[in-house]
Amino acid sequence: MSVANKEQADVGTAATSAPFWYKSLRALLFRLDPEEAHTLAIKLAPIAAGFCGTTFQDECLRTSVAGILLANPVGLAAGFDKNGRLTDCLARFGFGFAEVGSITGQSSSGNPKPRLFRLVEDEAVINRLGLNGEGADVVAKRLASSSFSLPVGVNIAKTNHPSIKGEKGVADMLHSFQCIKDLPLSFVTLNASCPNTHEGIMQESEELDQILAGVQKLNTRQVPVFLKLSPDSTPELLETFVASACKYGIRGYVLGNTTTTRDGLSTSADAVKAMGNGGLSGKPLKARALNLVKNVYQIKEKNQDIIGCGGIACGADAFAFIKNGARAVELYTGLIYGGPDLPARINRELAGLLKANDLTMETAVGSGV
Ligand SMILES: Cc1cc2nc3c(=O)[nH]c(=O)nc-3n(C[C@H](O)[C@H](O)[C@H](O)COP(=O)(O)O)c2cc1C
Repeated sequence: MSVANKEQADVGTAATSAPFWYKSLRALLFRLDPEEAHTLAIKLAPIAAGFCGTTFQDECLRTSVAGILLANPVGLAAGFDKNGRLTDCLARFGFGFAEVGSITGQSSSGNPKPRLFRLVEDEAVINRLGLNGEGADVVAKRLASSSFSLPVGVNIAKTNHPSIKGEKGVADMLHSFQCIKDLPLSFVTLNASCPNTHEGIMQESEELDQILAGVQKLNTRQVPVFLKLSPDSTPELLETFVASACKYGIRGYVLGNTTTTRDGLSTSADAVKAMGNGGLSGKPLKARALNLVKNVYQIKEKNQDIIGCGGIACGADAFAFIKNGARAVELYTGLIYGGPDLPARINRELAGLLKANDLTMETAVGSGV
């Protein structure tokens, strides 16, 4: 099958394209509780990085997003390295950039366990971790003494506690920004779209305006700031948030977060119901996330950039997001099913697709709209 036909057939799944060694390891990892498997992955990643050979590189993948130069457009999404432990080794897995966090103003143990579930047939997960993390002060201190193997952004969310809302919520987000604003970061993402909190996704434009105004004032080094939105947002809410983002100099959007919908799953309805609330990510999220990219691409300002995220598991997925307006992409759930060399595989396939379609990273962006 030619590379161009492969794109149309959309045959790639993270699970099926994984190398034999990861398929074997995955069988063992999937016997562990999903959160334990994640903790193990964070511990093993620096060791595994030492065994990684040279990752796939191609001049045609070089690009920039909000002025940040990237060796390739495939980034690690927020939530995997919540506490900023892996910045020195992530480039070895083939990533072009990474988002640490979400960090929150206060440390938090998150929601009660169990709170992370695999939907293996769907190559998806449901999580309601609820923004567990060590808190902005601790993570900022760690990042201050870390080396960065690639451009690093930090994702900021509001501490998930019923008492932290309104003005306290704004102050909490601004405290986190204050903690990290002088670090050598490439970008900051403001998370207005976590579904696993007491309040759910942010619905109040007034609250968002206060956060954006505060960040703009504190951002004396003019670090590019992105806004992360939900694929569940109504068109009206998207319009309101994009208008605010334009008003306060936001450089782009991360599109997007997990969904609370449960449409079109292969996992049995009873099993899904038993997992309970939470954000769904992975393959079933892809169409929704792509739609969010398409919608925001139409209404954003020209100089604002999009990072696409949601169910990306192969080069054809990344290519589809880029053709619909993203300048870069991020992934998380694909790693669980596809293993740590997924970013390199996506880059290899994406380079093939760009060449087969006579496109560059520059001309590909929005070329399918
Ligand atoms: C276990 C888990 C934890 C996550 N935690 C965060 C988080 O702290 N902050 C955030 O902005 N997104 C978080 N996300 C969402 C991801 O960054 C991403 O937007 C979403 O999973 C869709 O991408 P994917 O389908 O490639 O996983 C989390 C996702 C998962 C699966």
